[in-house]
Amino acid sequence: MKELRRVLCVLMMSIITNTILTTSATEMGNEIPLSKPGCPSRCGNVSVPYPFDYNLNCSHTTITNNPPRLFFSTIPTILEVMDISIKGKLRLKTPLAYNHYQQGKLISHEYSDAFPYDLFPHPQVFSDTANKLTVVGCDDSASASASSDASYSTYSRHGCHAYCSNLHELINGSCSGNGCCQVSIPNGMTIFNPRLDSDYNHSLYNTSNTYGYAFIAEEGTYTFNSIDLFNHTAFVNKIHNHVRVVTEWFVRQHESCNKVLTNKSTYVCQNNTHCIDFQAGLFTGYRCSCLPGYRGNPYLSPGCTDIDECAGVDNPCSHTCTNIPGSYKCSCPKRHKGNGLKNGTGCTSDSSQVFSRLALGFGASFGSIIVLLVGSWLY
Ligand SMILES: *[C@@H]1O[C@H](CO)[C@@H](O)[C@H](O)[C@H]1NC(C)=O
Ligand SMILES: *[C@@H]1O[C@H](CO)[C@@H](O)[C@H](O)[C@H]1NC(C)=O
Ligand SMILES: *[C@@H]1O[C@H](CO)[C@@H](O)[C@H](O)[C@H]1NC(C)=O
Ligand SMILES: *[C@@H]1O[C@H](CO)[C@@H](O)[C@H](O)[C@H]1NC(C)=O
Ligand SMILES: *[C@@H]1O[C@H](CO)[C@@H](O)[C@H](O)[C@H]1NC(C)=O
Ligand SMILES: *[C@@H]1O[C@H](CO)[C@@H](O)[C@H](O)[C@H]1NC(C)=O
Ligand SMILES: *[C@@H]1O[C@H](CO)[C@@H](O)[C@H](O)[C@H]1NC(C)=O
Ligand SMILES: *[C@@H]1O[C@H](CO)[C@@H](O)[C@H](O)[C@H]1NC(C)=O
Ligand SMILES: *[C@@H]1O[C@H](CO)[C@@H](O)[C@H](O)[C@H]1NC(C)=O
Repeated sequence: MKELRRVLCVLMMSIITNTILTTSATEMGNEIPLSKPGCPSRCGNVSVPYPFDYNLNCSHTTITNNPPRLFFSTIPTILEVMDISIKGKLRLKTPLAYNHYQQGKLISHEYSDAFPYDLFPHPQVFSDTANKLTVVGCDDSASASASSDASYSTYSRHGCHAYCSNLHELINGSCSGNGCCQVSIPNGMTIFNPRLDSDYNHSLYNTSNTYGYAFIAEEGTYTFNSIDLFNHTAFVNKIHNHVRVVTEWFVRQHESCNKVLTNKSTYVCQNNTHCIDFQAGLFTGYRCSCLPGYRGNPYLSPGCTDIDECAGVDNPCSHTCTNIPGSYKCSCPKRHKGNGLKNGTGCTSDSSQVFSRLALGFGASFGSIIVLLVGSWLY
């Protein structure tokens, strides 16, 4: 039995909804708070930085030793969030769509998760660089479009067809059309409503393959295996346990950073941050990022804080390290040269400087002897 607890925290701006990623607490520095005071910063294994806590539900199970799990709270979508990055990427368990055929008939058209899977209530799109639309089956096709309606003229639609007329052509690890095909997804896609279809209802080819599947997979999380075609239970488990989908979160605004910065009334980036334009298909907006040399949560007041590069024994300088806002300075002791970086030339005692001082001293005394000689001669 599950008891769901709401982890919604009040937002400064209604335009921000939820999202993102992978930065671990250690990466960010344990002392830097990533969530608002009083808001939980983690749900089980997932770190939940502000403002990504919005619209997410942390579900606690009564089974001991089971960590709570994080879900999108939008009904009816019950997608589990595995990872949120402050940079704006969320990693979710991918929803799986499948058709079941028997004796040349489509007998069920099912989705393991609620569909259509629409991100629109969240300011997110499916990452078109990190994901691929994937179809697994014999005589199965699916397509994905940036819009839920099939207006082909306005929105690009990407699709592919998986065949396996000859089972000997199946290759484990290869997803190039035999038993499995993959294609990029359109830019700016917010809804996953695959048009899963079979030309001959699986009646032409090997009849032991009775399912056709479609899902969006983060590249590298799905590897085709010929046994995926013949064991439905095992396949569903494999997708659930290993296959992820990446979404991109952003502050949804009609304006780019340039415009937003001229009227800061809706600008959400805090101190010591910069604004990064975001554009995907029909959507525009921006994201916030800490300035180089700063860390923390760029969306949370007061903003990012200076990194003290000099703290600790593995500071970058071989001798004296001076922390300055956003950076640091290495300096060498007197009569040493070099850039002072452990990484670089370090500090070496300056023999050439010693030599040039000697030369200077020698030159000066030699010069004054000449002056004396010339003076006495003139006299
Ligand atoms: C949570 O993290 C622990 C330790 O890293 C790991 O052993 C465990 O499998 C994770 N649990 C889930 C549900 O990811
Ligand atoms: C979280 O889940 C609970 C129980 O299903 C539900 O009552 C609540 O509305 C959800 N929270 C949000 C923010 O939707
Ligand atoms: C596939 O099955 C469906 C449902 O049984 C049926 O309506 C359709 O005509 C079949 N298509 C083909 C090509 O046999
Ligand atoms: C793929 O690997 C599985 C074992 O993981 C094996 O049973 C199967 O025969 C292999 N298929 C091909 C086409 O090599
Ligand atoms: C279909 O493929 C399975 C698994 O490779 C095999 O055992 C079966 O004999 C094949 N059936 C037909 C009709 O080719
Ligand atoms: C399908 O895979 C499961 C393990 O995931 C296994 O227990 C089951 O026997 C397999 N079924 C068939 C028909 O091979
Ligand atoms: C700034 O933007 C807000 C909200 O869009 C608007 O109400 C306000 O008039 C704008 N201010 C200026 C100076 O343009
Ligand atoms: C943000 O920076 C400005 C200028 O450096 C400063 O005046 C202001 O107090 C800072 N705000 C916060 C919340 O630290
Ligand atoms: C050392 O130099 C490399 C290459 O220039 C750089 O990537 C790395 O961050 C440097 N390490 C330190 C501690 O500065």
